[in-house]
Amino acid sequence: MNPTSAAPSSSSKRLSARLREARDRSQELFNIVRPTALYDRPIPERHRIIFYLGHLEAFDWNLLKDPLGLSSSEPGLDKLFSFGIDPVDGGLPTDQPKDWPSLDQIRRYTSLLRVTLDQRLQDALADDPNLARLEHGRLLEVAIEHRLMHAETLCYMLHQLPLDRKFTMPQPAAPDAPERISRMAEIPTGTATLGLPSGSRDEFGWDNEFPQHRVEVPVFSIDTGSVTNQDYLRFMQEGGYTDRALWTESGWEWIASLNRRHPAFWVPRGSEWDYRTMFQEIPLPLDWPVYVSHEEASAYARWAGKELPSETEWHRAACGTRAGTERAYPWGSEEPSARLGNFDFHRWDPAPAGSYPAGAGDFGVADLAGNGWEWTRTPFSPFPGFEPFSFYPGYSADFFDGKHFVMKGGSPRTAACMLRRSFRNWFQPRYPYVYSKFRCVKR
Ligand code: AVJ
Ligand code: FE
Repeated sequence: MNPTSAAPSSSSKRLSARLREARDRSQELFNIVRPTALYDRPIPERHRIIFYLGHLEAFDWNLLKDPLGLSSSEPGLDKLFSFGIDPVDGGLPTDQPKDWPSLDQIRRYTSLLRVTLDQRLQDALADDPNLARLEHGRLLEVAIEHRLMHAETLCYMLHQLPLDRKFTMPQPAAPDAPERISRMAEIPTGTATLGLPSGSRDEFGWDNEFPQHRVEVPVFSIDTGSVTNQDYLRFMQEGGYTDRALWTESGWEWIASLNRRHPAFWVPRGSEWDYRTMFQEIPLPLDWPVYVSHEEASAYARWAGKELPSETEWHRAACGTRAGTERAYPWGSEEPSARLGNFDFHRWDPAPAGSYPAGAGDFGVADLAGNGWEWTRTPFSPFPGFEPFSFYPGYSADFFDGKHFVMKGGSPRTAACMLRRSFRNWFQPRYPYVYSKFRCVKR
């Protein structure tokens, strides 16, 4: 290292600290898996758990090695852990545990990547506190948020792992919910500012968050509370899953072909319902928000004579104010904290709807950030003027296919940094394992 070079700047120190924290988050999740379950595939459409152990390290490596002037000693593993083993015929994956490297081999590979990266990163930070080679820190933000997103998506996966194949972790109790009275709040015609200003160096955003633009949103009404398990149970009891007219064509085909009759987190128990939390099976908690797929949320909305909100309507309800200004978060500009919502890894499971009145928006709409993502009726597509990141062109663009819908807000397992209002999440409408709730609007 050059002894005359500047010390790492506070922002690069902050980035290294956040990378360390993100690594602790991902490690915490792998610690839940009993060793005998590491090669399991809890969700049939997804890779085995073992893939993610390599993926998080290989992703950082593939992203940072060239800018840092490093070269690979295991290109085969770099590739395996970027893409996984995909099914040949486009059906469900058919790979077997023996098709993957051993745990020992993977551990040697990942720790070599980390040591090599960290050493070079430390030197790079000391030599160039502005991080010019790392796109002024943007590449590290990408590594950090990519890892934190997987801390959530891996959690969906481990949620589906049989209880006797994971270790139980503690969680703090949910706050006492005030009595919930969901009503509809009117959101007057007004402007929503979507996305982030281009060229902003202090605020990180993914490619799909640019450029910033304003949208005029006509008046609408929105549920002040999220739809609960109790609400959804009524929809089921009134024939929700058997009334063809409530479903889209693809939704009906999906529930009919798999004979789906209830949300993925619900467990039939005779004439009653149990509920799969992260670590337990409990009687259905009626006052929790219902976690469902987009297809199920849309069918409920149609049954209720309403619709899902659009992305811009969600923005208005969350960040608009009666004075006509806009806020960074529903509650204002205060940094996210446990008082304001159920997010940032404090709990594994939802809390009763309406448990965080301090986090409500100015129009009185509760739980917009945290306690479950919120489905919108907006297909995931680029903002006008979108440009993919040159160093990761497929992050968003691969999913602009009309087959994914935007989710906003955040879940109990969403890191605080991704609660920024410009963050856009997306999933396919039939994917039932996501921590996603919804509420309805009327126009
Ligand atoms: C933004 C959560 C939809 O899980 O497919 C992780 C994030 N992209 N690795 C996903 C992602 C590449 C992505 N989501
Ligand atoms: Fe990934």
